[in-house]
Amino acid sequence: MLDPLPISLSPPSTRAPRPSRATPVRAPRLPATSLPRGLDALFATLDAAPRLTERVIGAALDTVVLSSADAVGLAPFDVAAYGRTRLRVTDRYEVLILTWLPGQVSAPHDHDGSCSGVRVVAGVLLETMFSLGDDGLVDARERRRFPAGETTVGDDATIHMLAPSGGALVTLHVYAPRAERFTVYVARSGEVSRG
Ligand SMILES: [Fe+2]
Repeated sequence: MLDPLPISLSPPSTRAPRPSRATPVRAPRLPATSLPRGLDALFATLDAAPRLTERVIGAALDTVVLSSADAVGLAPFDVAAYGRTRLRVTDRYEVLILTWLPGQVSAPHDHDGSCSGVRVVAGVLLETMFSLGDDGLVDARERRRFPAGETTVGDDATIHMLAPSGGALVTLHVYAPRAERFTVYVARSGEVSRG
C-alpha cells in the first residue's frame, strides 16, 4: 500500500522573515512489484550508481518511462493541496511523485543539503530560483519552464519554488541523500509563483 504524505508547503507569510523547519515524515519502502516497470528501472539505476550527483540523478530521471496515468494512480490529485507520495526511501536517496492542480504551489524551500532532480511527467513545470539574502529573506533571480519529458536538477544549495504552469502538473522527484528536513523561506517580494 502506498503512503500518501499529507505534507504541503503553503505560500509563505510575509510576517515570518525567518526560515522554518518542516517536520520529517518517514514512509516504508514499498514492494517493487506494486510499481510500474519504469520506476523499477529508475531504482535499479540509482541503487547501482557509486555516487548520486546532480548529473547522475538527472541522467537517471531522463531515461524513466512513466505514463501520467500510472503516476496519477500513485499520487492522486487533491483539491486541498498538491498530492505527494513517497515511492521509495533508502539510506542514499528517496523518490516521490507529486501531482499539482492549477494554483497549487510550493513555498520557496531548500532540500536540507541534498541534491535533487525533478522530471516532468505531464504538464508544464514553472520553477523559480532564489538567492538567500543576509537578512534571511530570498530574492527571485530566475524563472524557468519545463515541459513534459524534461528534467531539472539542483545542487545542495538550491532554493526554489515549484508550480504548475497553466494546467495540471505531474512530477517525479529524486533527492540524494534523502531530504529529512527542509527549510521554507520567505520571498522578499512576498512572491507566490503562478503559471
Ligand atoms: Fe524542491
